Amino acid sequence: MDQRKLHDFDVNPIGLGCMGLSAFYGPPTEQAEAIRMLHEAIELGINHFDTAEMYGMGANEKLLGEAFSDRRDKVRIATKWGPKFLFDEDGNISGTTVDGTPENMRRAVENSLKFLKTDVIDLYYLHRVDPNIPIEESVGAMGDLVDEGKVRAIGLSEAGAETISRAHKTHPVSAVQSEYSIFSRDVEETTLPTLKDIGATLVAYSPLGRGLLTGAMTKENKPSGEGEFRQAAMQPRFAEGAYEANLALVEEVRSISETHGASPGQVALAWVLAQGENIVAIPGTTKLANMKSNLGASAITLSDAELAGLGALADKVQGARYNEQGMASVNR
Ligand code: ATR
Repeated sequence: MDQRKLHDFDVNPIGLGCMGLSAFYGPPTEQAEAIRMLHEAIELGINHFDTAEMYGMGANEKLLGEAFSDRRDKVRIATKWGPKFLFDEDGNISGTTVDGTPENMRRAVENSLKFLKTDVIDLYYLHRVDPNIPIEESVGAMGDLVDEGKVRAIGLSEAGAETISRAHKTHPVSAVQSEYSIFSRDVEETTLPTLKDIGATLVAYSPLGRGLLTGAMTKENKPSGEGEFRQAAMQPRFAEGAYEANLALVEEVRSISETHGASPGQVALAWVLAQGENIVAIPGTTKLANMKSNLGASAITLSDAELAGLGALADKVQGARYNEQGMASVNR
């Protein structure tokens, strides 16, 4: 499988977003099953795995540590720091905040190294920019980790173009991870051009539109239940009305996918990867069959007309990609 550059590593353009194995999309996957899937991912050629301190409050990093400690040389591990949960008087999560201080980073990185059972993180992101701390301070501290050998490369997640440029002057930014899909094209405006200028990679998260673009969701089986983050209050695209309208758009993806003998999800991934050689995608899945299907996207070549037709769907999507609080924390 052709590889793409991420820092000075060669990675499969299709990596694995590991979040859903531990958090946000319903109950966590049972540990032994998750580890089996992660091992199989390596066998299938996946070599870029994405996690974060925030995913299951360390549980996702611990899972990757268990899965990869005896095969560390076969994987590139990316993790992230910055967000913190806020708790109410009863100890329940009441919201999130971002702490981009060097002190918070030092605390987080030691946990991540321990949980991941490694002595170096391949790619370390600031998960969200802290508006109260100059980016130079956060990134300067991350640069120190590179000098100390604890981190190989640094990145930002959901940062705005001006922030990326300022950060890059402090320490080279190797990657920016932001949401990018047929349904979410806002990075094209200023982020992607900035990344081209500085020679960095875009790591596209939620390339399947949080599952919408796979074609597997229907009116009847809308994501729901305990631990499910895709609810109207957090994800307006899943609100009643918007969800149904967005599913109708997926049918347009399906009609193109059928001409390729492919699934809508495969076409959605092929579309993202066709937008530039400096783009890699990290679709999330908890299922081996879905992971295999996603890898099949590499074999699909879309025509210019198909790329344009699919690209036109973004303007018709109903609902923002996060609620108001979430939108305030991106592109800043
Ligand atoms: P995120 O980056 O937030 O993980 P995403 O990659 O756009 O979002 O989509 C992830 C969702 O797509 C998950 O709900 C995943 O469900 P499974 O864990 O059940 O697979 C779903 N998904 C991923 N690949 C899929 C596929 N090939 N077919 C059906 N659903 C898929």
